Amino acid sequence: MTAGSSPPLDLAALIADPDTRIIVCCGAGGVGKTTMSAALALAAAQAGRQVVVMTIDPARRLAQSLGLERLDNTPRDVPAAAELTAASGGHLQAMMLDMKRTFDEIVEAHSEPARARQILENPFYQALSSSFAGTQEYMAMEKLGQLRETGNWDLIVVDTPPSRSALDFLDAPHRMSRFLDGTMIRLLSAPGRAGGRVYLKVVGAGLAIFGRIINKILGGQLLKDVSHFVGALDTMFGGFRQRAQATYDLLRQPGTAFLVVAAPEPDALREASYFVDRLSSDQMPLAGLVLNRVHPSTAPGLSAGRAEGAAENLSPGNSRNDVLAASLLLVHAQRSRTDAQEQRLARRFASAHPDVALRSVPAAAQDVHDLDALRQIGAHLTTPVPPLRKTKTRAKRASVRPTA
Ligand SMILES: Nc1ncnc2c1ncn2[C@@H]1O[C@H](COP(=O)(O)OP(=O)(O)OP(=O)(O)O)[C@@H](O)[C@H]1O
Ligand SMILES: [Mg+2]
Repeated sequence: MTAGSSPPLDLAALIADPDTRIIVCCGAGGVGKTTMSAALALAAAQAGRQVVVMTIDPARRLAQSLGLERLDNTPRDVPAAAELTAASGGHLQAMMLDMKRTFDEIVEAHSEPARARQILENPFYQALSSSFAGTQEYMAMEKLGQLRETGNWDLIVVDTPPSRSALDFLDAPHRMSRFLDGTMIRLLSAPGRAGGRVYLKVVGAGLAIFGRIINKILGGQLLKDVSHFVGALDTMFGGFRQRAQATYDLLRQPGTAFLVVAAPEPDALREASYFVDRLSSDQMPLAGLVLNRVHPSTAPGLSAGRAEGAAENLSPGNSRNDVLAASLLLVHAQRSRTDAQEQRLARRFASAHPDVALRSVPAAAQDVHDLDALRQIGAHLTTPVPPLRKTKTRAKRASVRPTA
């Protein structure tokens, strides 16, 4: 399906382009981000690229088919993909992001061993690193930065966390650094950092009151944990903010392409719309929109109304064959209506975002959990687009990429 005037999304060209170094699959919860990331990574490896896909919370069976048995921050070969990629010289590795481990590694890399241990054992740190809203998004970006730095792959495909809103991924680094730099944390850590007696005298009284209030709300032990944590974090403090900025900047570079995934449903498309606007205002390079799990009509020439009319003429009280034919006609009528509704939604999106390239992927009969199903999704994603349109899409993509 290409909706109305929207240019078709040429993903075959995107993955074949050696300048494409990072593809980020974003979208609302449950729309198919993990599936698209894995399928596109496989397609890119089949096209000859050296690819790593970073998945986040993949379904167990999908993880197994990618050769991933547990959370693991280390990319591993996908043995079952070797046969599919051998001819092209491409290679596929996959990993499952371990959010807590990534956080721990940052702490270990940026502080003395004794201090690192102090932070890692701190209950406040443990709570923050495993459950603070946005930690997963932030750590996904961190890991992306680390993978990119190694230079081991020429294409990194990034899945994003199952947040309610796709925007969470982009907001995470700033939210995280705002938090670490926030008023409460600064106040709590002020005595340790300021050191001077005069300063302490001035703020001391205020802090004592503040401390008492916090103490009441949160309890003394937590306050102590936070204080110790922030004290220990002191040396890393500026580091966090810089890293958040650096990873954010990486996403704005010309070699990055965002792919927004949406289901053909009003909420998911509304979410996709916000996200597309946000990418454009942040000058982030958008490749296009993948409309996942569409239901194309099996016999587009036969309208829902005519199918229903024909079904009515066949039943009731007729032969078994007629009854069967009537039910098939009714299934077709239902499917045509779904198709028409999905096309309406796609056209509405296209008229609001006429420059955004679009491609749709049909709903498979079953969940996409093995390599063969991924390969089929990959084939849908990368079927070539007509040459005339192709030039148009490429030009449009280039036009939304900021110059370096
Ligand atoms: N085109 C498709 N046809 C059939 N099933 C699909 C298709 N795309 C995705 N699925 C299935 O839908 C489910 C959700 O997909 P997926 O896990 O990729 O979504 P997600 O956006 O990553 O979800 P979350 O936000 O929870 O991370 C999975 O069971 C997957 O196999
Ligand atoms: Mg997912």
